[in-house]
Amino acid sequence: MRSKIVAGNWKMNNNQDETKKLLATLSAKLPDTTAEVMVAPTFVNLSKAVNHLESSLIEVVAQNMHFAENGAYTGEISADMLLNIGVKTVILGHSERRAYFGETDELLAKKVDAALAANMRIIFCFGEELEERKSGSHFEVVKRQLTNALFHLKPEAWSKIVLAYEPVWAIGTGETASPEQAQEMHAFIRKTITEAFDATIADGVSILYGGSVKPNNANEIFSKPDVDGGLIGGASLVCDDFVAIIKAI
Ligand code: PGA
Repeated sequence: MRSKIVAGNWKMNNNQDETKKLLATLSAKLPDTTAEVMVAPTFVNLSKAVNHLESSLIEVVAQNMHFAENGAYTGEISADMLLNIGVKTVILGHSERRAYFGETDELLAKKVDAALAANMRIIFCFGEELEERKSGSHFEVVKRQLTNALFHLKPEAWSKIVLAYEPVWAIGTGETASPEQAQEMHAFIRKTITEAFDATIADGVSILYGGSVKPNNANEIFSKPDVDGGLIGGASLVCDDFVAIIKAI
């Protein structure tokens, strides 16, 4: 049985006071759920968030990390630094990292290897841009992103991987992939992993959908058989919306 997961990617939002406040209300309102619930505050607030959620079921995850163990990489954060403050999961490959910070599949493969070497869990993001969807190359793009960053892995590494399919045209735009479009791509991803590895790995990996998931569309998207949850941006900053999305799973 693969895990159901709802993860909130806070991006560059919420200072320390706002982080504390949102975590307090979220903890108080957290519904009963068998799904894993995660939040990803910014680096400077991770440590406080971990302490704040010590006795909570909500896991604190990082939005990014560097591939090197340590060294002259000004402004960067290593896996060891994350683990040392109690963060065991990292989001890698978010489209904003790819688009604004030049992260390529090749760089992401190195980050994936570094996170796995440190025994961290990874939420790996990928997805096509609008032009690629319009031109019909979205399946090819997604397959290439997965192949370049993940298909060199050993089969056993997949127990530490969560996938997040996030069509770039749906992120922060209010435009969501239809539940059918999400299901179609998630099924394609499982088929692609079956071909590269095997059906056990493909059936075991949780695949989240991300891109303008809101309380009013979460139910329908999560009802699709190959959608195992969501990576939530904007709506994870509003406690009641995030709670409603957790309820939907
Ligand atoms: P959004 O962001 O929910 O605001 O579209 C999703 C994401 O970037 O993970």
